Amino acid sequence: MTRYEAAKAAVRERPRTWLVTGAAGFIGSNLAEMLLQLDQEVVGLDNFSTGHPRNVDDVVERVGSRAGRFRFIEGDIRDLDTCRRACRGVDLVLHQAALGSVPRSIADPIATNAANVDGFLNMLVAARDEGVERFVYAASSSTYGDEPTLPKVEDRIGRPLSPYAVSKYVNELYAGVFQRTYGIETIGLRYFNVFGPRQDPEGAYAAVIPRWIAALLAGIPCEINGDGESSRDFTYVENVLQANLLAATAEGAAVTDQVYNVAVGERTTLSQLFNLSRDTLVRLRPEVGGARPVYDEFRQGDVRHSQADISRIQRSLGYAPTHSVAAGLEESLPWYVQNALGGADGGELPSGSGRREAGFTSGS
Ligand SMILES: NC(=O)c1ccc[n+]([C@@H]2O[C@H](COP(=O)([O-])OP(=O)(O)OC[C@H]3O[C@@H](n4cnc5c(N)ncnc54)[C@H](O)[C@@H]3O)[C@@H](O)[C@H]2O)c1
Repeated sequence: MTRYEAAKAAVRERPRTWLVTGAAGFIGSNLAEMLLQLDQEVVGLDNFSTGHPRNVDDVVERVGSRAGRFRFIEGDIRDLDTCRRACRGVDLVLHQAALGSVPRSIADPIATNAANVDGFLNMLVAARDEGVERFVYAASSSTYGDEPTLPKVEDRIGRPLSPYAVSKYVNELYAGVFQRTYGIETIGLRYFNVFGPRQDPEGAYAAVIPRWIAALLAGIPCEINGDGESSRDFTYVENVLQANLLAATAEGAAVTDQVYNVAVGERTTLSQLFNLSRDTLVRLRPEVGGARPVYDEFRQGDVRHSQADISRIQRSLGYAPTHSVAAGLEESLPWYVQNALGGADGGELPSGSGRREAGFTSGS
């Protein structure tokens, strides 16, 4: 049995109350769903600034009768009283609410700071005052900034390249200080380019995979920022769910007051990702077979290469990624297709697809 399977079994045996902030968003809604499937009491908090009621509805539908254990609060983490109300009676917090996107933060640094720094501090204060045991939060690979070393090791960071990166680094600083000053246990998870079902395909700040799938289906060219050789450690959301569950449940003080990379530990260039996306999609939509990308300017604030060293989280938390980029794409493409087309059209990939566990470990 893997550590992930063991953690799931242990959690199922001992129901707790969890607060998932950002529960109407991509990662938060997937976390809420996983916890409800494990028979936990779940409080969700979101102000729908970038998340959607349809994600909450989808969670409720998918968990069936377990939805009775889910309480959703529409509210804003920029309001301390709302955070206190959400934290009341909660054992563990998985804090995901934030304004994502590097370009958004460059366009509006004040909004990013308000949600990601003021809101984060409110959540920490509320969690501390309400006696929350452990506060696990979404940190970011953007914190590596201009540090050139690959793969990225947690203790070697450079200068931030965007207001978003600053906000996420400040989260780490505050979380560490709260543990050392007030004793609340904190763990930061530095996510690397996450993708999967419920990732928002709409809007100016949509992530690359849903944006490309929508463009491929619409028969318009996919834009690659830069020369296509920029690379990322694209991480399927199931790996992120695992990291959160392990971080929330791992025993011993030594695992807390830490940040951990959450990724696969591999590097895929944007050109490779485009080819992989197209070649997976072609099985559902043969007409996309001949699609070619167009190359655009490099995007301000973007790092050139990103790849995680995942040995710390492997060693300390027993994390082992279950999905490669290819396995994650295969599993999530039907969702992307259905939702890029406004839910009107979908499709099943041939055998072995759908939301399932895939046997993959990093390096294999
Ligand atoms: N997706 C990635 O690749 C990635 C990478 C690194 C870090 N992260 C972090 O992971 C977390 C989740 O990201 P996601 O991709 O699911 O984004 P998302 O936009 O889908 O989810 C964020 C959620 O937070 C909510 N939110 C924002 N401001 C809020 C506020 N003031 N009060 C209450 N709710 C608020 C939004 O409405 C949204 O539902 C974020 O903290 C993000 O910075 C994501």
